[in-house]
Amino acid sequence: MAPSPHVVPIADSTSVFKADIFKGKVLFCTGGGSGICRGMTEAMMRHGANSAIVGRNLERLTKAAKELSEATGRECLPAQADVRSPATLKEAVAKTIAKFGRIDYVICGAAGNFLVPISAMSENAFKTVMEIDTIGSFNTIKATLAHVRASKGAYIHVSATLHYNGTPFQAHVSAAKAGVDALSAVLAVEEGPNGVRSNVIAPGPIAGTEGMDRLSPKGDVAGRPGYPAGRMGVVGDIGNATIFLFSDAASYITGQVLPVDGGTMHLQSTL
Ligand code: HXC
Repeated sequence: MAPSPHVVPIADSTSVFKADIFKGKVLFCTGGGSGICRGMTEAMMRHGANSAIVGRNLERLTKAAKELSEATGRECLPAQADVRSPATLKEAVAKTIAKFGRIDYVICGAAGNFLVPISAMSENAFKTVMEIDTIGSFNTIKATLAHVRASKGAYIHVSATLHYNGTPFQAHVSAAKAGVDALSAVLAVEEGPNGVRSNVIAPGPIAGTEGMDRLSPKGDVAGRPGYPAGRMGVVGDIGNATIFLFSDAASYITGQVLPVDGGTMHLQSTL
């Protein structure tokens, strides 16, 4: 099997939303240079939003921004930052405001992962993932909140389903994503009165992404136990959930976790 390019087009989208619902709006997405977050960004741009994608690798971001703009006809700003560094995040926000003048929606998606049992995991390995996933999300909220308040916008945090049960070799990510879920809930209740919403998308197994390449068995899963929907997810499934949660159709939905996992989480818990 050819290696996954981690560049998943939204061509697999089954969006039923109007193409211009985010016209004039601006998305700020950490981790937007690749994988699921790139697909979420593409979905938003296909529905009218301009975007800033944030990551550590400027070359990769620049290439992704060009491809996203060409595919959608919207503007995409590559903004280099490490979510572990509040100073670089603030610079990325300043660049976004300088270019677009506003931030309406934020996706906290930057994440790190690898498989290792607790017995072999170094203290620094655990800390690194906590710093990227949990503290990185906190830093992103801090850097963007004033702008999201001003636009009465919304956050989506990209979590996972693996921490709702004990998933072997995932202690670092499980602890980090539990923190992300909690952070989003607190943000929702604190900022609701300011017109800001915050929700979590918890992707299940999504084909063609770096996370799945690292974590999952390869090949066709149709008929395999553990896949109630008979297939793996596609990035377009997460894109559709993103459009819904950021849209006015979800204006009374905040503080929630939406698993987009084809039912895998529930089946795993009963095996
Ligand atoms: C054991 C490892 C390791 C591995 C790194 N470490 N990889 N330990 N097994 N495979 C340890 C290192 O030895 C080091 O500890 C510490 O982690 C930090 O590693 P660095 O390489 O110095 O850190 P850094 O360069 O910041 O890289 C961060 C990273 C990297 C997380 C390690 O892999 C990364 O940035 N990945 C991003 C891409 C990615 O993984 N995306 C997929 C996310 S999917 P010591 O003790 O040696 O100093 C996802 C969803 C999951 O999150 C759910 C899917 C269903």
